[in-house]
Amino acid sequence: MLAFIGGTGLTRMDDLEIRHRHDIETRYGKPSAPVAEGELNGVPVLFLARHGDPHVWLPHQVNYRANMQALKDAGATAIVAVNAVGGITAPAGALVLPEQIIDYTWGRDSTLFDDPNDPLVHVDFSWPFDPVLRRRLRGALERAGLQWVDGGCYAATQGPRLETAAEILRLERDGCDIVGMTGMPEAVLARELGIPYAMLSLVVNPAAGKASREITMAEIEAVLHTGMSDVRTVLATLAAG
Ligand code: HPA
Repeated sequence: MLAFIGGTGLTRMDDLEIRHRHDIETRYGKPSAPVAEGELNGVPVLFLARHGDPHVWLPHQVNYRANMQALKDAGATAIVAVNAVGGITAPAGALVLPEQIIDYTWGRDSTLFDDPNDPLVHVDFSWPFDPVLRRRLRGALERAGLQWVDGGCYAATQGPRLETAAEILRLERDGCDIVGMTGMPEAVLARELGIPYAMLSLVVNPAAGKASREITMAEIEAVLHTGMSDVRTVLATLAAG
């Protein structure tokens, strides 16, 4: 079953007809919210609000391990994660299907295998996003008549503060195109669980120093509002086919 993880601006999917809420407790604790199972235009899907519903967990407080294990326990076989991000090379308002990721987070529980009885596993993570799922997302974007940026590198920062202009220049020198706070360890946990995972990112602001003004929540919310309605269309189109 296809599962969606909604980030900032996508706490609920209004067009999802919820049939059941899985109140799951995993060996890693509870996920951010119950996993909703329902139908999106008649197609069964799962949905999880990454930051809780209502939005209470900051990026560094999210229990990513419980979230990913709960999605697996609820029957997820593919996961599309939605993220609001800052744009380094991509403009505000753009939808991005990143192809690579660099992890700048610290102190997060970033593996499922931390018990002495767990298998010794070093997963291959050369290509963090599933190529088939990315192709399906491209198809859905095309059918929805939307433009997107294909590829690019997502920088996962710790937050919750935004970056300095110098930090963004460093990320740019590292080859990053967008920056967000939630892509890791989420993406690697999906890999450890063996679940195909892809990211659909919405650029909600120019990253620090990329515009000659401060980044305000009002500016972010304005872009979120229109951008997330496009994201909803993409997800419904993807589920349909
Ligand atoms: N930086 C990091 N995370 C973000 C940003 C940003 O500029 N905008 C939205 N999420």
